[in-house]
Amino acid sequence: MNEGQLLYLSRTDVERVALDVRSMIALLETAFSEKGSGRVEMPPKPGIHTQPDAFLHAMPAYIPALHAAGIKWVGGYPANQGRGLPYISGLLILNDDQTGLPLAVMDCTWITAWRTGAATALSARYLARPDADTASILACGVQGRTNLQALAALFPLTRAYAYDVDRSRQDRFAADMSARLGIEVTGVDDPRTAVIAADLVVTSGPILKHPEPAIEAGWLQPGAFGSAVDFDSYWQPAALAQMDRITTDDHAQFHYYRTQGYFAQTPDPAADLGELVTGAKPGRQHPEERTLAINLGLALEDMAVAPEIYRRAVERGIGTWLEL
Ligand SMILES: NC(=O)c1ccc[n+]([C@@H]2O[C@H](COP(=O)([O-])OP(=O)(O)OC[C@H]3O[C@@H](n4cnc5c(N)ncnc54)[C@H](O)[C@@H]3O)[C@@H](O)[C@H]2O)c1
Repeated sequence: MNEGQLLYLSRTDVERVALDVRSMIALLETAFSEKGSGRVEMPPKPGIHTQPDAFLHAMPAYIPALHAAGIKWVGGYPANQGRGLPYISGLLILNDDQTGLPLAVMDCTWITAWRTGAATALSARYLARPDADTASILACGVQGRTNLQALAALFPLTRAYAYDVDRSRQDRFAADMSARLGIEVTGVDDPRTAVIAADLVVTSGPILKHPEPAIEAGWLQPGAFGSAVDFDSYWQPAALAQMDRITTDDHAQFHYYRTQGYFAQTPDPAADLGELVTGAKPGRQHPEERTLAINLGLALEDMAVAPEIYRRAVERGIGTWLEL
């Protein structure tokens, strides 16, 4: 730390640090273990809403065990795709937990993309069959990419399927991910083909308050695991009712979103990720269970990862020091 200064990390700077996904999953596991033991301070996220289906959220968290304190100010604007702008954007402020002084301001696009994928993988560690070797990604955007790569870090994937309403995005995703992961990633024509073929299914399309979900009961196979990154926008009520085990990342936040009109027909989650990691509640109990993680995204996930990005950036001389 430089006295009287903070480190500004642009999006490119954060990307250059390139924290690896296994380290992120390990950091999230620590953070959720702390949460499950009641040692995290994380008030509910307040937000403002300047456009339909869009949000700007303030996400503060403190994880004493990681000396991680700060806040993310993040926007999600579904219409940005048509403007050539990112769906998710924003800034994160990291504070010194002893003095409260700001240590860093960093772009939060990369961190949001990757910590969400890492949360899917961490959930899958407790909810998926360890021998799961096929993944399907429905919606091939930023989240589709990070979620597939995070799953590939923990599971012996041999092939993946991809579906997107935008064919060119689907094609690009299949080519990029095949090259990056060294497995066959195949584009498919419809959501059903993707869901029935996979042990691990991630849905990562737009979050809509009044969705028309595509995934029907019976599509997710017995023994398969789903991760709904896009809340209940992709899963029909009958498909949700058929799950043997639904989890979330935080019960309170899940119930808050219910009051906001989401999850009207989603059964109550049996466990949250802190309870899974600490063993307070069980994960998968049987190879034939259908399981689903509905992780809503928590400030503690960002704050678990941000100090490590800061540390590595300082070490490698990445970023710009600014006067406080
Ligand atoms: N739960 C969390 O923690 C969390 C965190 C970050 C983002 N998200 C959510 O993840 C979603 C994706 O974010 P992103 O950054 O990847 O966005 P993105 O714009 O990069 O990608 C979205 C993709 O969805 C595709 N798409 C739209 N409707 C579709 C449909 N019905 N079926 C298949 N594909 C469809 C688009 O063509 C695009 O490729 C958003 O809803 C975002 O709010 C959730």
